[in-house]
Amino acid sequence: MDRLTITQPDDWHLHVRTGGILKAVIGHTARQFGRAIIMPNLKPPVTTVEQALMYRQEILAALPKGSTFQPLMTLYLTGNTSLGEVKKVADSEHVHAFKLYPAGATTNSDAGVADMDAAYPLFEAMQKYGVPLLIHGEVTNAEYDIFDREKIFIETQLSRIIQQFPALRVVAEHLTTLEAVQFVESAPGNIAATITPQHLMFNRNAILAGGIRPHYYCLPILKREHHRLALLQAATSGNPKFFLGTDSAPHLTVLKENSCGCAGCYSAHAAMELYAEMFEQAGALDKLEGFASFYGADFYGLPRNTGTLTLQKRDWMVPEQFGDADARITPLKAGETLRWQVVSA
Ligand code: DOR
Ligand code: ZN
Repeated sequence: MDRLTITQPDDWHLHVRTGGILKAVIGHTARQFGRAIIMPNLKPPVTTVEQALMYRQEILAALPKGSTFQPLMTLYLTGNTSLGEVKKVADSEHVHAFKLYPAGATTNSDAGVADMDAAYPLFEAMQKYGVPLLIHGEVTNAEYDIFDREKIFIETQLSRIIQQFPALRVVAEHLTTLEAVQFVESAPGNIAATITPQHLMFNRNAILAGGIRPHYYCLPILKREHHRLALLQAATSGNPKFFLGTDSAPHLTVLKENSCGCAGCYSAHAAMELYAEMFEQAGALDKLEGFASFYGADFYGLPRNTGTLTLQKRDWMVPEQFGDADARITPLKAGETLRWQVVSA
């Protein structure tokens, strides 16, 4: 097969930032996806519906002319989030979920939840109103090994949350381990998960073998090969619990190539191309449409898109950089050849 047309996909986990970076990146997402769940970890974080609506306007204003892309907004859960705000999200047409970052887990997560038990009344309200909870599932205590943080979060926190709130809709974001895949597979239907392109493509050698490569550093960090294989199996299985979320997370090149480099891989420039390559390698191109275009929309209770996206099998080279002189961003696979290319939206 050298040409593939699918229903227009959506990205269920995306960082676009603000200002110059937003302007540099948003066209890449809008070129492929109908909608995207926009992460709220700005500085300061997006914690109220009012702020989310302002952020949404900024994103709409940065879109290429004529684009019909729709940003689906989320709020950042903090120790100060009120029950009233949960109700406001439930009533909002444009805000779709809360994002839970354990405090200190990742980029701009200082304002996240430090005391998980204190957030339980908020989970209760989300369950009651049917508001999805999106979880960055990593424990943060310095004593835990960075490669074990997802597994321990699942064992100690996530399993408790879903037990206490059996009807809460949860998206375990950016899975990275075999244990996480097994957990989601055996959980009830209201528990789903996103999978990024980098966790399907690479294992931790990409960051560390033969030199430190900061553009492969993201959180949760890439794991061993058997975890990658489990993720690839899950994504290509046709199980509707697993759907597309790039976690594309642009940082300035100078802040990635740094003595203390930021976490995040920029993949929006070639998201569908990267996934198509991996699905093809797994012999499962026929499963790409469900993963990219159906299961996420179904989980969020939104209509599936009606347009289409076509990918053509032809080699092209990813540019070394995007953005102008003040906002240089190095993409995933910079300077390398990709096998598939989006030809029309
Ligand atoms: O690598 C990451 N980058 N992981 C996250 O959870 C956040 C993201 C970011 O915002 O840069
Ligand atoms: Zn993210």
